[in-house]
Amino acid sequence: MHEFEFLTLDDVEVSGKKVLLRVDINSPIDPETLTILDDSRIKAILTTLKDLEDAAVVLMSHQSRPGKKDFTSLEPHVRILKKYLGDRVKFIDDIFGPAARKEIRKLPPGKILVLENVRFYSEENIEAPPKVLARTHLVRKLAHFFDLFVNDAFAAIHRSQPSLVGFAEVLPTVAGRLMEKELKALKKVLQNPEKPCVFFLGGAKVPDKMEIMLTALKKGKADKILLGGLLANVFLEAAGYNIGEENRKPLPDFEKLKNKAKTILEKYRDAIELPKDVAVEINNERMEVPIDKLPVKGQIKDIGINTIIHYSKILSNAATIVANGPAGIFEERQYAIGTTEILHSIANSKAYKVIGGGHLGAIANILNLNTKINHISTGGGAALSLLAGQKLPVIEALTKAAKRHKTYH
Ligand code: 3PG
Repeated sequence: MHEFEFLTLDDVEVSGKKVLLRVDINSPIDPETLTILDDSRIKAILTTLKDLEDAAVVLMSHQSRPGKKDFTSLEPHVRILKKYLGDRVKFIDDIFGPAARKEIRKLPPGKILVLENVRFYSEENIEAPPKVLARTHLVRKLAHFFDLFVNDAFAAIHRSQPSLVGFAEVLPTVAGRLMEKELKALKKVLQNPEKPCVFFLGGAKVPDKMEIMLTALKKGKADKILLGGLLANVFLEAAGYNIGEENRKPLPDFEKLKNKAKTILEKYRDAIELPKDVAVEINNERMEVPIDKLPVKGQIKDIGINTIIHYSKILSNAATIVANGPAGIFEERQYAIGTTEILHSIANSKAYKVIGGGHLGAIANILNLNTKINHISTGGGAALSLLAGQKLPVIEALTKAAKRHKTYH
């Protein structure tokens, strides 16, 4: 028996079986050239695919969300998978229509059939309880082809969508190797995080991150939260600073976000660190602007130098660090300073360090700091949700399926 409440590939026989494998290979992608900019999430599922090499594997994943520029086909991902696995891999431009069903039916052991981006199908984008999702067209059309459902989509464990939790209601279900590896690595922070535990949160996905902040503070998981990126902008406004219309515009529902930030600040002001200054682009130059001098005409693109110094001091005294999201627009050299300096401070601190999310992990790799970080997770929101103590629908679905399929023990 292993350490989880759910089953893993150690508990089942897969040879000759038809397996539905849900992974998360949602990757940073150049929407113009369709080039994948970082293939870490693809590499991370190779161990699972190796362990499934005697099975007929149908692979399912999403890429981005409807409405986003990188909401694209999985064809570029398949090109990379082929680089690692050769002719074992085949792509079909279909999810559960007649073409996909025909290929699934005749798929022999040893082969991998990759279905199209599952979020191209609108019902996939609904969040609902697993029982409801088990009745979606996707699950009803596909489940009966398979002997086993393997969920290795660690980076999506915080989502309750049909392909993530619906199949677990109706099929024998186990976790894949990446899921195991991530959960083992994050356990140290989860169970007995040494204190003080400092979170650094930047980047976008502001509403998700606010929920995570709230849970992490409520459950006492985070002693301090340092803010950067768009998240910091919202909290600056909530704290009474005026970031200017130009900086409010990129965030839909700004007023709603600001009000939520206000309620978080009212309760947890001492635990939240806001930038003391920001870097604004004025006449194509990086200008350091103290927050009490805002608004100025120009886009806020990074945290300021004084903020970097202040945050670095806090990080150097931390015993546990959890970081997610860049501090600014790191793609532009002048505005990458915040992100790279914060990463150096994290790497040099003696704390137990976990980085989540594609961007920050990829930058840590480029800066050769990866060996100084204890764990770089493939999950962004997923790792944060786990560490903050939020409800995780995929883990719940795996656990429930294990109870139902006791005979597999
Ligand atoms: C991620 O990149 O965090 C995961 O792939 C989940 O994506 P989502 O936030 O669009 O559900």
